Amino acid sequence: MFKPDQQEYANKAERYAALQAQASALLEGERDPVANAANLAALIFNGIPGLNWAGFYFLQQQELVVGPFQGKPACVRIAMGRGVCGTAAEQRRTQVIEDVDSFAGHIPCDADSRSELVVPLIDRAGTLIGVLDLDSPSRAHFDGDDAAGVEGLAQIYVAALDA
Ligand code: SME
Repeated sequence: MFKPDQQEYANKAERYAALQAQASALLEGERDPVANAANLAALIFNGIPGLNWAGFYFLQQQELVVGPFQGKPACVRIAMGRGVCGTAAEQRRTQVIEDVDSFAGHIPCDADSRSELVVPLIDRAGTLIGVLDLDSPSRAHFDGDDAAGVEGLAQIYVAALDA
């Protein structure tokens, strides 16, 4: 049985190191992309404070389609280049958005979201397979430490596909 980590951490780096260890253990020996995405979304949503949405969009025929997530129901399809998710996918670069209201083209799925972190998922062959999206109801909730920490979690997800 998985026990949520109730520990307090001295800093974000420590929290992400613990989360990455938990993610590796959770995905160990399992390659199913939906099962692993579902468990990782739950781990992130329960392990990172201050989120209102955490989950996956997968690339299907040049569109991002929502995958496993935690939070309120979300927009199903996002075109490449649209919104924060489509921008992260098109540029293949992590997006840290302090204030979604000042991001032109932000797609409001949950009206509570104020800041957002989106990490592209790129497999070992260099193919973009989707994005990992975290939303917070607080402005400027995410910084470079969160970006690095969530990029590490995304790598654990992608590595498990080939394990
Ligand atoms: N806000 C995102 C859409 C996805 S939801 O936040 C779950 C965007 O602008 O791409």
